[in-house]
This record gives sequence, C-alpha cells and structure tokens, in this order.
Amino acid sequence: MTAGQTRHDLLVEPTHDEYVRQCYVSDLRFHLLNDVAGGMKATYEQRLKQQFVDDHGRPPADKREVHELMMRDHYTRTWSSMMRSCQEMMWDSVVPSVERQLPALAEKVRTATSNHSTLRLDPEVEVPYYVKAVDIHCMPGGYHSQADADDVTQAALYDRGVYIYQMGFAGGLADGIGRSVAQFIAQKYPDLKPKKILDIGCTVGHNTGPFCEVFPDADVHAIDCCAGLLKYGHARAESLRLPIHFEQMDARHLDYADNSFDIVFSCILFHETTRDSHRQILEEARRVLKPGGININMELPPNENLDPYAGFQIDWDAYYNNEPYYAASTSTDVVKLMQDVGFQQEQIFEWLIPDYYEADRAQFQEAVLAREHSYTETGRWGEIVRWYGYGAQK
Ligand SMILES: C[S@@+](CC[C@H](N)C(=O)[O-])C[C@H]1O[C@@H](n2cnc3c(N)ncnc32)[C@H](O)[C@@H]1O
Repeated sequence: MTAGQTRHDLLVEPTHDEYVRQCYVSDLRFHLLNDVAGGMKATYEQRLKQQFVDDHGRPPADKREVHELMMRDHYTRTWSSMMRSCQEMMWDSVVPSVERQLPALAEKVRTATSNHSTLRLDPEVEVPYYVKAVDIHCMPGGYHSQADADDVTQAALYDRGVYIYQMGFAGGLADGIGRSVAQFIAQKYPDLKPKKILDIGCTVGHNTGPFCEVFPDADVHAIDCCAGLLKYGHARAESLRLPIHFEQMDARHLDYADNSFDIVFSCILFHETTRDSHRQILEEARRVLKPGGININMELPPNENLDPYAGFQIDWDAYYNNEPYYAASTSTDVVKLMQDVGFQQEQIFEWLIPDYYEADRAQFQEAVLAREHSYTETGRWGEIVRWYGYGAQK
C-alpha cells in the first residue's frame, strides 16, 4: 500500500525496517476500517439496535445515541482502541525516518530555488491558538512546531504520514481530492477560464498541485499559517515543477484585495478550525472572490442528516483521534452558514464529486451534469469514493 508514493527531493527515505513497519500500519488500518468495522456494524444491526428498541421502544434517533450504545459494547471498544493505537503507530513509523534526515531536509529548504514556485513568509503572522492547542489527529508536534527557522519536521511527517493514512487511495501525490475538484470545476464551468486561484490552508500543497495542471494559465496561490509547512511545500513544489505561490497568512485576515480570485478553495480544512474561524474564513473567501467566481470547500459531509450509524462512524475521530473541532464541523448547517456570510441562496451548492482516479469518464460526467447531489448515502466506504464539497458562485 505504501510503495506507490511519488518520489520528490523532500520525501524522507525509510530504511528497510521502517518501510516494513509503515506497510504494516497501512494494512492494519485497512483491515480495521473494512473487515473489523464491518463486524462492528453487524453487531449493531443484529444485536445492539434491537436491545435499544427493547429498552426505549424505538431505534436510536441520532449519532449520539448510537455512539453511547456502541461504546458500551466490547467489540466497539476493542475496535476503537485498535484504531487509536494504529493512528499513533502510523506517526511513530515515520518519526525515525524524519529525525535521521533532518539535517539534509534543513539544507534542502535552505537552498531551495524558486524556478517554478515562490515563497513569501511573514514573521508577523501568528499561528491561531486553536492550531497550537492540540496535536491534531495525534500528529506529534502538530502543524506548527519548529525548533529553528529551517526545521520542517512537521511537514515531512505529514507528507509521508498522510500517504500511509490514505493507504495509497488518493494517488501517489496524495492529491485525489484536489484532482477531483479541479477537474469537476473545469468540466462544470467550461467558460470560467480562471486567472487567479487560491488554496486556503494548503499544508504542504498536496491538493494545490492539480489546480496548476488543470488550469495552466492561472496564477495559483496557496496559504497556510505555519512557516515550516510552507518552506517544505515550496521546496517540494520546486522538485515537482509546480508553479505555486506559497504565502504565509492567517486565513481569517487574508492579505489580498477584494474581488481578486476566480476560484477560492479549501481541502479538509474546516473540520480542524473552530466555529468562529470557520465563519471568518468563509467571509474572507467571499471578499477576495471575484463576482462570478467559485468558492468550494471540500470537507467531511455534514452528518446530522445521515443514517445515525453512519454519523456515529464518521464522528469517531471527534472523540478518540484528537480532533476537537470535528463534531462541530460535521454538525454545522453549511448552507445556512454560506448565506450568513453573504452568498445568495440560489448560488449555493453541495456537490458529491467522484474520485477522479477511481471513477470512469461516464461516472464523472454524470456527476458534473447532475442538478441535485444527494450525500445522505455517502460514508467513507462506498462503491467508489465520492468527495463532498459545499460552496457558491459569487
Ligand atoms: C487538514 S490541514 C489541510 C490539508 C490540506 N489542505 C491538504 O489538502 O493537504 C489544515 C491546515 O490548515 C491550516 N490552518 C488552520 N487554520 C488556519 C488559518 N486560520 N490560517 C491559515 N492556515 C490555517 C493548518 O496549519 C493546516 O496546515
């Protein structure tokens, strides 16, 4: 599962033993999410749901009731404990490779050229408290930690760790979401011809890259608040010959003029921000978007409307994987929020985008042409992966 990651100059090389360990973790994760979680669902359908009905005279009404019910059962508690251990083992499997190569990584970011991409750091930017407050998804050191100016530990850990986490399913550059949404926009709005594109909360730019390929005539900008991530992202983009302008900013106060971008997008950002920041960032996204431009935010689907069991499973991370902002995000009425920040109701959309790597052309085209996108059937595991996004045309 881990062999297919696309090499670039910044990617850390595992030793044989580190590599085997990483493969083991990736395969264990796949087994837990498919086989073991499948058994857990069967315990719910065949036993626990009926117990709840016997006790309450009705089935569980929402994801919270399913959560409480499931966590009283040994099967779920064992699964949950294994999932948490697997997450910690995943980072642990990458840390030795990163630590061994730190001096070489520091030298690479120090000497990185700007032949393709650019980097603009701003020491005045403060990392928001909610980013610093927690080692999000158990990644030791979080996104922001830096021992010195050339320390890119967190970025190197993320780049390899995310690939192991995704079990290779999002492509060799971990860019499945970006590739899918960029292609989707290109096909849905063939007349848009964007000149300027912005990725908010880009981390190392995994999902920014496809926008450079799909829209080669556009200037592609990518912002994040963490300097180490951007330094690594810039050197990585140089190695991959991707023309991305990396800029350090707080997305709640963008340093761009009003009406300046044709597309403003984010990938899996908002489940890692607070409610207030979610709103502030969307207000800024709308401000910098040109009239007629597209804002699209790829996220976990809101799960209050899903089947209560699916809601429980999607929210597992909120309780046990160091994701304190996740449940607020999956419970947010995003359509109302988009209206609250000023988008016109008739311009707001929710899309379900088939994974571009997995879907065939007809499936992809069908989704592009669909008027309605029902996401109530989406979970993490379906026939083909479908990515949820909400947004609006300004
Ligand atoms: C889950 S990661 C996003 C992943 C990335 N978009 C990708 O596709 O790989 C969340 C990122 O958002 C950044 N972030 C969170 N709040 C931010 C803010 N207010 N301004 C800028 N970046 C922020 C974090 O530093 C982190 O890199």
